[in-house]
Amino acid sequence: MPTNVLVAYGTTNGSTAEIAETIAEVLRKDGLTARARPARSVPTAAAYDAVVVGGGLYAGRWHKDARRFVRYHRKALAERPLWLFSSGPLDALAYARDIPPVRDVHKVMVRLEVREHVTFGGCLREGAHGWIARMILRGGQGGDFRDFDQIRAWAARIGHELTG
Ligand SMILES: Cc1cc2nc3c(=O)[nH]c(=O)nc-3n(C[C@H](O)[C@H](O)[C@H](O)COP(=O)(O)O)c2cc1C
Repeated sequence: MPTNVLVAYGTTNGSTAEIAETIAEVLRKDGLTARARPARSVPTAAAYDAVVVGGGLYAGRWHKDARRFVRYHRKALAERPLWLFSSGPLDALAYARDIPPVRDVHKVMVRLEVREHVTFGGCLREGAHGWIARMILRGGQGGDFRDFDQIRAWAARIGHELTG
């Protein structure tokens, strides 16, 4: 049976979901079984052999669905290879520097054995929820700062660790 990987994500405006789908796609190409699912709709992490958890960043916090997922499934996660990612910075240099994890993520890294965490650039497009989002967009600071080559390369590393 191929290793069964869960890519669980917390998103408000959908861009973290697209990152999770990309990661799952790369893992499937590497011969693994992989599924991207909203973190809030995963009944049990114990059904998977390895887990990737990602969340968008909002006001310096990891998305609440990602936080809750880790809290709720911590026992299963402690017994499985675990990777984390965040998605947030709306600037073109996000991919060029090593962005430290926010406090929520750091806490998880202290409590659980996390193979790796990475912060990917974020994305904010017209139609995003909330007045702050609208303000950012009106100020011309929106856009798509995700680097899908970087995301695919990271996923490939996970694939190698799980298959190699
Ligand atoms: C209200 C609001 C607050 C945000 N706060 C942060 C933040 O603290 N740090 C950050 O890097 N990005 C921040 N962002 C950018 C988001 O993290 C980025 O748009 C991300 O891609 C959203 O993920 P989602 O589309 O999956 O919800 C913020 C965006 C909004 C609209």
